Amino acid sequence: MTIHIGAKPGDIAETVLMPGDPYRARWAAETFLEDAKLVNEVRGMLGYTGTWRGHKVTIQGSGMGMPSLSIYANELIRDYGAQTLIRIGSAGAMQPQLNVRDLVLAMSACTLTTPSRGIFKELNFAPTADFGLLHAAWTAAQSMDATCHAGQIYSSDVFYDERPDLNEQMQRHGVLAVEMEAAELYTLAARYGRRALAVLTISDHLLTHEALPSDQRESSFGDMVELALTAAFA
Ligand code: ADE
Repeated sequence: MTIHIGAKPGDIAETVLMPGDPYRARWAAETFLEDAKLVNEVRGMLGYTGTWRGHKVTIQGSGMGMPSLSIYANELIRDYGAQTLIRIGSAGAMQPQLNVRDLVLAMSACTLTTPSRGIFKELNFAPTADFGLLHAAWTAAQSMDATCHAGQIYSSDVFYDERPDLNEQMQRHGVLAVEMEAAELYTLAARYGRRALAVLTISDHLLTHEALPSDQRESSFGDMVELALTAAFA
């Protein structure tokens, strides 16, 4: 057990999917895993372990934002030996060619800051996905119905952003979408030599102000979970 995860040693798989929302962890575990067992409920941040096509998998909520994700990813990596960590979550589209429901594979994630910022000082570290996972996810996406994009995203510290000027610069430089966790996950994976990827579903559009209707949220979230699991065990 760690400060924030109540799982026993051996309860956590080497492959961990990390949705921000703990209820999505429960839904994904009940929908995709066999013999899913609740392994963590400290602070309501649900985590489940089961099997997918014979492979042991944990689905653990990360909470919203990089400080929260950093707590869970640190403990999963350092105390439970997680090797492959895949964020599954939603993102806001920043480019006209993206539509709600599309999938985005985050090749890299720019930020203003992360919980790791202090150690880099003047260095602008570039948090980057594991190439093998990215390649496997891209390959798997080609045989799915959903439209999939790969490119740079923005991991923001704020949902209600007061910096439209900054968004414009990112849009000018091709940043695909905004979410709030991937950059720190990639940074921790780099530090500890683990594999990480963020697979995202576009839930809202910053340019068109369109939002994914609630009746489509579940099915689009399912595409993302399936893509993440396929990439993890490719
Ligand atoms: N996650 C989903 N949509 C988002 C947005 N517009 N900004 C930040 N994170 C998000």
